[in-house]
Amino acid sequence: MTTPITVNGKTHSIDLPEDVPLLWVLRDGLGLTGTKFGCGVAACGACTVHIDGQAVRSCQVALGDVWGAVTTIEGLGSPDALSVLQQAWVAEQVAQCGYCQSGQILQAASLLADTPDPSDDEIDAAMQGNLCRCGTYPRIRAAIHRAASMMKDA
Ligand code: FES
Ligand code: FES
Repeated sequence: MTTPITVNGKTHSIDLPEDVPLLWVLRDGLGLTGTKFGCGVAACGACTVHIDGQAVRSCQVALGDVWGAVTTIEGLGSPDALSVLQQAWVAEQVAQCGYCQSGQILQAASLLADTPDPSDDEIDAAMQGNLCRCGTYPRIRAAIHRAASMMKDA
């Protein structure tokens, strides 16, 4: 039996057991390796994607429980252009090793959708579950402020 799933606007029939975590469906089933495995226990945020616009830990959602359209880092911008948030990330040179960054960006996108001009405290609260071993937290905060300002001016 296959399970239908919509990822980045395209519907796929997945031939994997329904209890396989969405993270592995994305990475191994669909080759979308921008979503990372960090801990597997909802403690790091590296695997963050969106389901119907809500940031979720894909290591914790079984294929059979996916309730809506999935967006990964590969689908955040358009095929020809980075999203505003990704542009802000580049401008602030946020990434160091980069491993945590897909999850950080997806978490930040969800924050900005709910809170278009977040304060430092709101950013810290929303991002606290996304760990970065390289300590890019000040640049993440700066990039979120920059994206908020770019979106306001657009
Ligand atoms: S791999 Fe999912 S939260 Fe760490
Ligand atoms: S950039 Fe290296 S873990 Fe975050």
